[in-house]
Amino acid sequence: MRIISLLAFGICLIFLHGCHGHRKLSEGEILEQKVDSILTLMTLEEKIGQLNMLSGQGELTGPVTDGHSYIDAIKQGRLGALLNVNGVAYTRRIQEMTLQESRLGIPMLFGYDIIHGYKTIFPIPLAEACSWDLEAIEKSARIAADEASAAGQHWTFAPMVDIARDPRWGRIMEGAGEDTWLGSLIAAARVKGFQGDDLSAPNTIAACAKHYAAYGAAEGGRDYNTTDMSERTLREVYLPPFKAAADAGSATFMVAFNEINGVPASANPLLKYILRNEWNYNGMIVSDWNSINEMIAHGFAANSQEAAIFAMRSGVDLDMQGHVYAEVLYDLVKKGKIPVWQIDNAVKNILRLKFQLGLFDDPYRYCNSEREATSILTPENRKAAREIARKSMVLLKNENHLLPSGKTVRTLAVIGPLADDDENILGGWKALGDPDEAVSLIRGIRETVDPKTKILYEAGCNINDDDRSGFSKAVAEARKADVVILAVGESAAMSGEARSRADLGLPGVQHELVKEVFKEGKPVVLVLMNGRQLAIPWEAQNIPAILEAWLPGTEAGHAIADVIFGDYNPSGKLVVSFPRSTGQVPVYYNHKSTGRPADPEKRFTSKYIDIPIEPLYPFGYGLSYTSFMYSHMELSSDTITMSDSLEVGIRVTNIGNYKGEEVVQLYICDHVASVTRPVMELKDFKKIELDSAETVRISFMLTPKHLAFYDQNMQFITEPGVFSVMVGTNSVNYTGKKFTLVP
Ligand code: GLC
Repeated sequence: MRIISLLAFGICLIFLHGCHGHRKLSEGEILEQKVDSILTLMTLEEKIGQLNMLSGQGELTGPVTDGHSYIDAIKQGRLGALLNVNGVAYTRRIQEMTLQESRLGIPMLFGYDIIHGYKTIFPIPLAEACSWDLEAIEKSARIAADEASAAGQHWTFAPMVDIARDPRWGRIMEGAGEDTWLGSLIAAARVKGFQGDDLSAPNTIAACAKHYAAYGAAEGGRDYNTTDMSERTLREVYLPPFKAAADAGSATFMVAFNEINGVPASANPLLKYILRNEWNYNGMIVSDWNSINEMIAHGFAANSQEAAIFAMRSGVDLDMQGHVYAEVLYDLVKKGKIPVWQIDNAVKNILRLKFQLGLFDDPYRYCNSEREATSILTPENRKAAREIARKSMVLLKNENHLLPSGKTVRTLAVIGPLADDDENILGGWKALGDPDEAVSLIRGIRETVDPKTKILYEAGCNINDDDRSGFSKAVAEARKADVVILAVGESAAMSGEARSRADLGLPGVQHELVKEVFKEGKPVVLVLMNGRQLAIPWEAQNIPAILEAWLPGTEAGHAIADVIFGDYNPSGKLVVSFPRSTGQVPVYYNHKSTGRPADPEKRFTSKYIDIPIEPLYPFGYGLSYTSFMYSHMELSSDTITMSDSLEVGIRVTNIGNYKGEEVVQLYICDHVASVTRPVMELKDFKKIELDSAETVRISFMLTPKHLAFYDQNMQFITEPGVFSVMVGTNSVNYTGKKFTLVP
């Protein structure tokens, strides 16, 4: 008897019981009774089967463990989820096999890394974060979910919410940068975008907040490396985005590969004591790829049995590609090493998610080939990708208003290894992004400038080798041009997982190419296409115009051309600090003061003797084609009590000639506290649009809660004292005023 018919019978019972003169059952209670009704039907083997997830034949996104045939596992009811399988046809076939050939026919769960788009690829998440446009970021995730669900997907392993301060770490491209406040808002926006208002709707997918936790703090920026920090740093810097994702309703969490303070994330107390108990999180927790087994390599588990016991005890429900639960749990239960209730809890978390997705109501809900044929890579989706790509770009320099460039420029030389590239611009984790559908920079330029403009092109060099043979042709083309656009940066494979770099300069001989082309004395616009902030001090010093385009996705060329030729006035602001050199890393804006704050004029201060202490470009920085003047900063009072709010007002005027958007940022500084506080912390922002000559008054409400921190006893408190509130265009240029918080 198939599960579905049993279930229908069970639901009737629940309904009858629920209305049988007793109080009406809540939706949650009915869901739990449905889950329990399935659980009671399951054998121990079938329960353990639900805790097993294997990768399909798509791209392998981790080290290949022993090849396990998932087809056999499906037929034996030993597989609960599959990743890296795509398309309605194939997922339908798998679902049919699951329902028809396994004893209970519990629907299969399909997951995939839909990190910044499914087929229509959006800018890498680090780029999107630079838009500071939460609606646009949510919309990007919404479209990704719509496309993925149209192709059979139920679940994405996103958003990645790891705070990162070290650009040597390749996965910085997947997150929202160095700031916790902004990272938390973006985490929530992405969860809402993926999940919408109804997880059972056919066009929404389950989100997965990852990688819990502190994965971005890997020592040396080396992926998977040790993280070790105080509980205060954990709770003030790395955990809040996860809490924001949980509060936004993220259906699942994924544990990280790294250890935190000596205990691998797959067995770390953070799971039970904070995520489950303190935050009351009851979603499903999945391991990362083989991360349960890797506790052996960590030197934390002696063998798979111990690894499984530690992970199960800590609340890791689903084993991604490790196959360790599948291999050892049965015996461990029979030997009394693992109580059945722990297995049951894990199974219930997985069954509950499948109910929430509507898979028990209709296992084929996401297998609609008509939707698949009409909802993916649509003109509307491409348009949205182009819009957020434009918003994600950051204008780093624009000497003498070289940009926007005229569209009728007579001769334009487009040079560099990323100028005619349609693959790397999709970035890492590009899902099913198709280079044939992507718009290269030179194509975007061709479609934007006047047809009479003569466009010259030379790659000049490759992205990452020492071949200089293309330099002379590139220089020759630059010599003929009125304006030169130089497109340099990283390949998609130089950032993302297991892509740490020890040198943050332009890879290969690109820096030399820039210098050779620059020698021709023509106006040069440098377009950076990269997955992390780069150390480009020479370029910053010498090149008149620099646009950080990041890896902008399918509509890269159109979006970059829109900015360069003035169809869009850039509004992006950095969410990471650019270092002057690799040696300056980690460099981030919300650092501590120290007892000897850096002072270039004083020897005995916290500085370098060979480079300035400031970052090359600071957090929150980004230029516009217009300019904004800040004035008339006002506080509603210069003293507030613990029960007051402080109104912070400021006027912003567009004093330039272009309509433009500005991200007005509000920071605080707690000058003296029982625990040292960062020199400044972002606590609010507003993205506004002003016509030329337009003035607006912006108002923020600051509350004592904004000033709270963990004291020496790890109590989250607000202390009386003197504070500064700063409002401005970035973390360096702002207006500040002091106020006092009294008990
Ligand atoms: C990878 C990544 C994780 C991803 C998973 C599935 O190793 O760490 O972010 O979601 O495996 O591809």
